[in-house]
Amino acid sequence: MSTSPFSAPDVAAVVLAAGRGTRFRSDLVKVLHRAAGRTLVRHVLEALRPLGLGQVVVVVGPDAHDVRAEIEDSGLPVHIAVQEQPLGTGHAVQQAVPVLDPGIRRVLVLPGDTPLLTGGVLAGLVEASDAPSTLAMLTTRLADPSGYGRVLRSGDGTVAGIVEHADASDEQRAIDEVNAGMYVVPADTLADALARLDDDNAQGEVYLTDVVALAVDAGCRVVAVDAPADAVAGVNDRRQLAEVSAVLRRRHLDHLMVDVGVTVVDPATTHVDVDVEVGVDSTLLPGTILEAGTRIGRGCVVGPHTHLTRCVVGDGATVHSTRGTDAVVGASASVGPFAHLRAGTVLGAGGRIGAYVETKNARVGDGSKIPHLSYVGDAVIGSGVNVACGVVTVNYDGQDKHVTTIDDDAFVGCDTMLVAPVTIGAGAYVAAGSVITDDVPAGALAIARARQVVKEGWVDRRRTRRSGDGDDEPPR
Ligand code: UD1
Ligand code: CA
Repeated sequence: MSTSPFSAPDVAAVVLAAGRGTRFRSDLVKVLHRAAGRTLVRHVLEALRPLGLGQVVVVVGPDAHDVRAEIEDSGLPVHIAVQEQPLGTGHAVQQAVPVLDPGIRRVLVLPGDTPLLTGGVLAGLVEASDAPSTLAMLTTRLADPSGYGRVLRSGDGTVAGIVEHADASDEQRAIDEVNAGMYVVPADTLADALARLDDDNAQGEVYLTDVVALAVDAGCRVVAVDAPADAVAGVNDRRQLAEVSAVLRRRHLDHLMVDVGVTVVDPATTHVDVDVEVGVDSTLLPGTILEAGTRIGRGCVVGPHTHLTRCVVGDGATVHSTRGTDAVVGASASVGPFAHLRAGTVLGAGGRIGAYVETKNARVGDGSKIPHLSYVGDAVIGSGVNVACGVVTVNYDGQDKHVTTIDDDAFVGCDTMLVAPVTIGAGAYVAAGSVITDDVPAGALAIARARQVVKEGWVDRRRTRRSGDGDDEPPR
């Protein structure tokens, strides 16, 4: 599962992702909400990826097709267990036990709603559990521990159990050491404890947290591993979703600045999703939003105020004040300000798409230019083409879309309508103001507009007519 030095083939992870997430008030399952461009459950799977565990099981609710699809998309070999009803975290783990491989000796249980988790924190927890009859759990101290389970310690300081917030006395609620909800438990101890859980508590749920006291009763030693609060924060509502998203974005910007060598002029206004790659010596200017699936090359200047979704930008390109979706910008190309690159736009190396230009499903060859005020949709444009100001590909006849082809080195004059399907041949010229309905052969000049009429002396004649004694020529 991994090429990293850390490996624990006798450990299985069980990720709990079957809760209803009622506090989210959403039709979408909680673990499919996104933080910095990635779903909550995917963040947890990515933290597990480098650990080299023997098995990963995700517990999902019934009809969780979307969760299954998201898990498959991760490419990790994950087993699915279904919890038909969300009767509590302990009940969720009970559903996972039957699918554990025979070689599994320890079980790492973790929630699916803790996106700040890192592989390093989990590796520390797994290492701490690597002794006979040992249960390791992550804890942290919070200024505001409300909502979390509190860690109970005996007189000698050892962990005795966990009490949930809803069940805690005022005295227990004053404890600021909380359960992060992540544990490594010996597989046999876990199975025995799970069999003894009940739902006799304030919420009427089968609590996984009761496993800790049961394991202590069974003679287990409990090791509490202290984790930084911002590694284990759970996301129960959308306010917390916004908070963890900000932490994730900042972490990714720090990585880009420190490890890669990207200049981020104003991190506070630069939103870069965790899966976005940016090359060395690129600069991200303020107000830039780069969403998942976007890759920026080396030495680029992106922004200010550029918003790209699933776009690929080649080395040395400039993308200023632009909205782009599913588009490719070639090396050393220049885009914007105020361009709209819609899906299927592919701009070649050294090309230019300038101010107030919208493109869609358009291939624009190397060195070709569409500098101002044009709409280019469903087009195949060769290299070295100049599309002057105000050109429109008339691609839609009200029923179907049609393709405009412009071959290498052609020149399309200002304010031209290209009524598709139509082809402008290599090196051809189209005169400004033309409405082109027929193909233009290579090397030809096409002019498709009314001839200009000049009426000498017309202004004087109109003035005379207004004063009542001129001729009666209408002012055309
Ligand atoms: C849980 C812990 C609490 C801990 C906190 C840390 C319990 C009883 N409480 O509380 O001690 O401080 O996490 O974040 O475990 N889930 C299921 N099936 C269910 C219920 C929940 O799969 O029937 C999943 C949820 O999708 C979620 C995870 O388990 O990913 C945790 O459930 P949640 O309801 O968020 O527990 P907390 O109240 O946060
Ligand atoms: Ca939670």
